[in-house]
Amino acid sequence: MYEATEIKRGVFWVGAIDWNIREFHGYTTNRGTTYNAYLVKGEKTALVDTVKAGFFPEMISRIKSIQDPEKIDYLIVNHLEMDHSGALPLIKELVPNAQIVATDYCSKGLVKHFQHDWPVQKVKTGHELSLGGKTLKFLEAYMLHWPDSMFTYLVEDSILLSNDGFGQHYAGFHRFDDEDGHFEAIMDEAAKYFANILMPLAPLIPPILKKVEKMRMPIEIIAPSHGIIWRAHIDKIINSYVEWSTGVARDQVLIIYDTMWGSTEIMAKAISNGLCKASVENKLVRLRQNHYSDIVKEILVSKIIVIGSPTINEGIFPSVAQLLSYLKGLHPLKKKGVAFGSYGWGGEAIEAINSEMKAGGIEVIEPGLGVVYVPMNQDIEACFQLGERIAAHLND
Ligand code: FEO
Repeated sequence: MYEATEIKRGVFWVGAIDWNIREFHGYTTNRGTTYNAYLVKGEKTALVDTVKAGFFPEMISRIKSIQDPEKIDYLIVNHLEMDHSGALPLIKELVPNAQIVATDYCSKGLVKHFQHDWPVQKVKTGHELSLGGKTLKFLEAYMLHWPDSMFTYLVEDSILLSNDGFGQHYAGFHRFDDEDGHFEAIMDEAAKYFANILMPLAPLIPPILKKVEKMRMPIEIIAPSHGIIWRAHIDKIINSYVEWSTGVARDQVLIIYDTMWGSTEIMAKAISNGLCKASVENKLVRLRQNHYSDIVKEILVSKIIVIGSPTINEGIFPSVAQLLSYLKGLHPLKKKGVAFGSYGWGGEAIEAINSEMKAGGIEVIEPGLGVVYVPMNQDIEACFQLGERIAAHLND
């Protein structure tokens, strides 16, 4: 009933489309996602990655449109996480003699996850596996984004099966970047994916891209495990990864805040006005109307982050505290930060925000601005001036 898509002669997409998923371990997936598995046919056949367990029938149906699934010889496990290996026990049950191929780290994880003692052919960077007419070359991608992660390169076809790398949570009818017609949305999802999944591991990305270059692996197609396959915009996505992983951002200031009775919001708008007066691109996002997984995508591309919270219970407002806790783990590169907020008496939120920003590697460039109760004209002017000073920091 489901059809495979041939992405190059003898290489097929046999994954599944999850149109309706809207939450992915805390990350909002407003455009759904796909779980991309690939069937590579030489004289022998390899299945690279699988799908989430519940999508097994869809994957099997697509494989059947090409060949008998029981004739698969190898199961390549690029990554252990359940969105890609969840259906492994099911396919292994169907094809018990298929040889699993994975990194050493992954082989240990397979035992833990599935409590099976399947024999695993362990591979390292540079190892090759010939299918007869098709050669698979492996590249360990340690911590991109799990210790077990691996890329599989198809030598004769110049296809990089990059697993989570270069992925996007994007469900669509088309498989390729040049077919879809919504390129901006695809790049938006690629940035959101990078920000939420790969940002804390960014320093590891340039070395692996160099390794691909050094191993003389020309790339005509990048086929990730989520979303659209790249063939027309390979330079664009690789250059974006280089920028995102080295902290290159726009001259944009992002003002993130929440408010109890409106005072912190008045401050946020006055800071924005100061930035506008200085002709600096800025955006306001209130946390209760914007999900933190969308906000971190904006943080990725902004040079300065201004975070506002009222003081509550001698600390930070819960929605702001949640964002800061998430951001601390993501450890964004080369960001500058400023805190502000209203308070009734203590005003502890400012120092607490500063402390959380520093813990996340953000350079705090102002002591922070607090206002007691409701901002009066002079307070609004102070916020406006803060906006102007922040604008000047863009050129530091
Ligand atoms: Fe790390 Fe798409 O799983």
